[in-house]
Amino acid sequence: MVIEASFQEIFGSAPEVTARAPGRVNLIGEHTDYNNGYVLPAAIDRFVYFAGRKRADRTVRAHSLDFAAAVEFSLDSIERDPSHPWSNYLRGVSKYLEESGHRLSGADLVFGGDVPREAGLSSSAAVEVAAAAFWKKLLDLSLGAVEAVRLSRRAENEFVGVPSGIMDQFISALGREHHALFLDCRNLNFRHVPLEGDVKIVVCNSGVKRALAHSEYEVRVVQCREAVEQFRKMGMEVETLRDVKMGDLIMRGRNLDKLLLKRASHVVTENDRVREAVKVLEKGDLKYFGKLMNDSHKSLRDDYEVSCQELDVLVEIAQRQPGVLGARMTGAGFGGCTVNLVQREAADAFRHAIQEGYREALGLDAQVYVCEASDGALASPTGTM
Ligand code: GLA
Repeated sequence: MVIEASFQEIFGSAPEVTARAPGRVNLIGEHTDYNNGYVLPAAIDRFVYFAGRKRADRTVRAHSLDFAAAVEFSLDSIERDPSHPWSNYLRGVSKYLEESGHRLSGADLVFGGDVPREAGLSSSAAVEVAAAAFWKKLLDLSLGAVEAVRLSRRAENEFVGVPSGIMDQFISALGREHHALFLDCRNLNFRHVPLEGDVKIVVCNSGVKRALAHSEYEVRVVQCREAVEQFRKMGMEVETLRDVKMGDLIMRGRNLDKLLLKRASHVVTENDRVREAVKVLEKGDLKYFGKLMNDSHKSLRDDYEVSCQELDVLVEIAQRQPGVLGARMTGAGFGGCTVNLVQREAADAFRHAIQEGYREALGLDAQVYVCEASDGALASPTGTM
């Protein structure tokens, strides 16, 4: 394995343990997780790998293969490192493991992998979850999967400072081979839903680095909270947009600020779409599932306004191709990737059509990844609903 050879080369011996965690693609349920709603992601067959050994002291020496750089820090004073931002995911996870009572020892380690970065496929969640899985294995920690998910999310939110929801870390830890994962973000109940039939999950990378993603994401989080405030002022008992129903939008929507109504409409209809999508997937109706994906894209483009020209072009080209059941942007938006449900025998032609069409329309190159749903780092055989 490459990661073991890299460790051997850098540290001069074989590693004691290795661990890995996958990136993810969200099939449907976008911008719903931080509203306590529903999501349906799958872990993909692209991973971040860790290899390492214990040290007798409290020092961590970490090498990033992807950045060809190294850092050293003490477990006794874990601070954010602005000059090596790639190391902050590991630092954050280590810090919160210790804070929640898991005593770590020092370690020599290397990590790296093939999850595309800044593409909306959650490479940062994969680093966090792989770090948690690595510490668990190295030190035999009694660390539950959901606890690891929460710690990893905390590292992202509080240590790195990105106010994301829980979806990415959850799927990276608890995804399952050949399955998507239906998660209720309010109570973290989940179940795996088989991805059957002759279809492929094809991810197209627009190549647009999500420049706006960070600031606009925060704006959307705030707008959702404001919409909830306005519903409350109307006398509704709602904690998040998860508690708002379609009927409430129809009855009370006109009293809501116009922009907030658009944002709320996306979240409410998207939550409905996820539940519908799970039902039809369980019945094997992939055609209807694809239609729900197309509807999701429209809602993200027109009501939530987190798409961009490049993503829209990729989706439009995709939806015209034979064998394509559904296509939508995936992840936070403003760049990154689209996700496409494509009949197996059409996947190769689809790849060519996308690459050609994207070049013709915008003069840009698209990377296309045909993905398999994979096991998460701390995969559990059963769900909780
Ligand atoms: C990013 C965040 C997730 C989620 C998606 C949008 O990937 O990390 O928590 O909010 O955006 O669905």
